[in-house]
Amino acid sequence: MPRKIVVLDTTLRDGEQAPGCSMNIQEKLEMAKQLERLGVDIIEAGFPVTSPEDFQAVQQVAQTIKNATVTGLSRAVRGDIDRAYEALRVAENPMLHIVIATSDIHLQHKLKMSRQQMLEKMSSAIAYAKTLCPLVQFSAEDAFRSDPAFLLEVLNEAIRQGATSLSIPDTVGYATAAEVQQLVSYLNENLINRQSVRLAIHCHNDLGQAVANTLMAVSAGADQIECTINGIGERAGNTSLEETVMALHTRKAFYQCECGIKTKQLYRTSKLLSTITGIGVAPNKPVVGANAFAHEAGIHQHGILNNRATYEIMSPSDIGIPESRVVLGKHSGRHAFIERLTELGYSIHEKEMDAAFEKFKQLADRKKNITDRDLEALIGPFAISIPETYTLDAFVINSGTIISATAVVKLIRDGIAYEQVARGEGPIDAAYKAIDQIVNNGYHLDNYSIQAITDGEDALGEAIVQIRKEDDIVTGRGLSTDILEASIKAYINAINKTLIS
Ligand code: KIV
Ligand code: ZN
Repeated sequence: MPRKIVVLDTTLRDGEQAPGCSMNIQEKLEMAKQLERLGVDIIEAGFPVTSPEDFQAVQQVAQTIKNATVTGLSRAVRGDIDRAYEALRVAENPMLHIVIATSDIHLQHKLKMSRQQMLEKMSSAIAYAKTLCPLVQFSAEDAFRSDPAFLLEVLNEAIRQGATSLSIPDTVGYATAAEVQQLVSYLNENLINRQSVRLAIHCHNDLGQAVANTLMAVSAGADQIECTINGIGERAGNTSLEETVMALHTRKAFYQCECGIKTKQLYRTSKLLSTITGIGVAPNKPVVGANAFAHEAGIHQHGILNNRATYEIMSPSDIGIPESRVVLGKHSGRHAFIERLTELGYSIHEKEMDAAFEKFKQLADRKKNITDRDLEALIGPFAISIPETYTLDAFVINSGTIISATAVVKLIRDGIAYEQVARGEGPIDAAYKAIDQIVNNGYHLDNYSIQAITDGEDALGEAIVQIRKEDDIVTGRGLSTDILEASIKAYINAINKTLIS
């Protein structure tokens, strides 16, 4: 009988701490719903005490999610714990998560506490948390640079106070696989009342070891893995959920473990996160990268044609990568469109279906054959419904090598048309300047990228922009077979997000 591994996803807490990965409340909520569809056991939704927005995001996730435990981080102080519990108490299944560092380097230079002081602080924090909530996780920050005997003493005290799970973070991504194996085995053998708690592993990827170390911990007996989608997180990131889960899935006979993740939702979850944050994954990223299933070498292609297993250890359909098979076209009606989306696993609200179908029709006018990939790209944004305060009505752009670019852009807001003309360093700069003149909201372009996301001459181009006003960074996405239109739409999408009250 395979051992069940619990998956805690911390994309919305540890992942969101990564530069450029911050999400607004609505984006966190949509991501949480997708994590629930993905089948994660625990969603860490934020760190409620840090800001009113984080508090609200955790509270809304707690209110919405029914099929996963929801947690939020607190330091080992009552104020943090109270705030976290206030946000989490509405959850079907809340869990408090308390962290304090156990390594001497953190104790001396960050907490300025003795080991004994830290132990007492942790002990009373867990005891207090237990009076509020039956599920309490304790994380020993910087566990892998802590004295193992002291770490054991701390974790045993957490068990005595009623902690239900214990996590050992490799906070700075320093551990080797052999050390992970040693520490997990040592704790497994020496923790008091070991069966009463889950032992969790939480790795960072500073030395590129996060997934390998997480898998090693599983082999050594850890019960819970802590990951983020696309491996986002502080510095070099956290353990990538999709890589770890697919390793457990593909090498099930080796690991003799299983988890509740629905692997066919992995690709969509990765895409949704990239859409929200504007941060894509490298083409060679395992599992979800654009090249993860591409076979260029002739000898490989030959083998694949004879038998896919020659060079492919997983199939794209295992992770839900849509096929590039033609599925719809110009003459497909609303019924066929809805049916195909349902087959792909999308359920779109009735009120958004009209807009989605309209977008499909516009695309079908320009693109003869619509594939599942096109549909995925088209429908992605409907997962995050942003009120379209401004919509693009029309644009004309002139540019060339001997003239400076000029753009005329017409936007509609509340039924009124606004038109501006601007000159710029290139066609996109000119268009964005014209839009700035209309909107005038103080945000400026911080980042811009464009890529083809489907195949062929009439490929769909996806533009991602990040606009910034002081510390507020907002991401927008635009899609079109015309790259200028995609770029303008991405800019308007970001502007519309800034206008959500
Ligand atoms: O990496 C870490 O130590 C953490 C803790 C705050 C749980 O993320
Ligand atoms: Zn971490």
